[in-house]
Amino acid sequence: VEIKWDAAMAEKAGFKHFMLKEIYEQPQAILNTFRGRLDPETGRVEIPEIILTPEEIKSLNKICILACGTSYHAGLVGKYLFERLVRLPVEVELGSEFRYRDFLIDEKTLVIPISQSGETADTLASLRRAREVGAKAIAICNVLGSTITRESDGTIYTHAGPEIGVASTKAFTSQLTALLLLVLYFGEIRATLSEKERKRIAKALLKVPYQLEKLIEKLHPDIKELSYQYQKKRHFLYLGRNILFPIALEGALKLKEISYIHAEGYAAGEMKHGPIALIDEEMPVVALAPQNHHVYEKMISNIEEVRSRKGDIIALGTEGDETLKRVSPQVLELPSCEWEVSPILYTIPLQLLAYEVAVRRGCDVDQPRNLAKSVTVE
Ligand code: G6P
Repeated sequence: VEIKWDAAMAEKAGFKHFMLKEIYEQPQAILNTFRGRLDPETGRVEIPEIILTPEEIKSLNKICILACGTSYHAGLVGKYLFERLVRLPVEVELGSEFRYRDFLIDEKTLVIPISQSGETADTLASLRRAREVGAKAIAICNVLGSTITRESDGTIYTHAGPEIGVASTKAFTSQLTALLLLVLYFGEIRATLSEKERKRIAKALLKVPYQLEKLIEKLHPDIKELSYQYQKKRHFLYLGRNILFPIALEGALKLKEISYIHAEGYAAGEMKHGPIALIDEEMPVVALAPQNHHVYEKMISNIEEVRSRKGDIIALGTEGDETLKRVSPQVLELPSCEWEVSPILYTIPLQLLAYEVAVRRGCDVDQPRNLAKSVTVE
């Protein structure tokens, strides 16, 4: 066989789309985010770009995360992490809402704008308003020297490398990694994290690149297979709880963006307040159900509720979980992992699902209609 190569293919390193290349680059991207910042022995984090003094970090009364789109979902995960491990209240705000609100923040609030591009107009405008009242800002950003980084006191760069696909993938999981680093750092200074806890989390994070590599290799063929079965569906529901609720939102967003299938992400506990009315055999329901938190039992009940209404479940859960296999005929098995890193792991199969379904439907995955990589207008 003759393999034809052109410049576009070379740029994509042999992948059919930038998005797929970027999904596969995640183990490396995450490694690049924590490399040189996380001490594997002590679990200590060194990020000189966090310009706050220990006294300033101790005196914070609130964190306010500002972001749009996928970056907003990273912010929502950040809220679960900060509140549990740093014991600081966290508000997560959409750039397009915050900028027009009568918000309550002051010089004791730390603002964290999260943006892949560093140029999103609504996030930037919100950051400017927050700075007017004296809040300090540490950005999480992928693009060196971008406007948001220049207008913040410090920036934790994600170092994920250029992201070309319009739908964000590796930038998102790198943002989750950067947030976790910040949590480890703050947790030590504010003495909310014991050394043992810090080491446990650091160990879990250090394992992630390796786990992702294995996971992509193992699950991609299965997900491709599934995509044939689901390409014609008109709606999807994604359910998660706790720290995986934002990942349900992100999974739904990814599918919407690139396949144009209507999808909703929901906190599984809210199902009874509305979406359950939509469940029938035509409704695929993606359920995130790892065993690492006590909401697991609740997720199992939610899955049973969907099944009893003939909903078509695709469950994502822990390897070897027999209960999950009993309640769901389709299970994608992920390695057992700590709660803190589960958002990173559970995102990957959802990206692959969105990608494969979009490809089956003949969509332009790298350049979805009506969307732009970086939205610099209001
Ligand atoms: C656009 C992109 C999304 C991205 C969002 C926020 O809508 O298509 O992928 O999540 O902007 O972008 P930012 O660069 O601020 O993360």
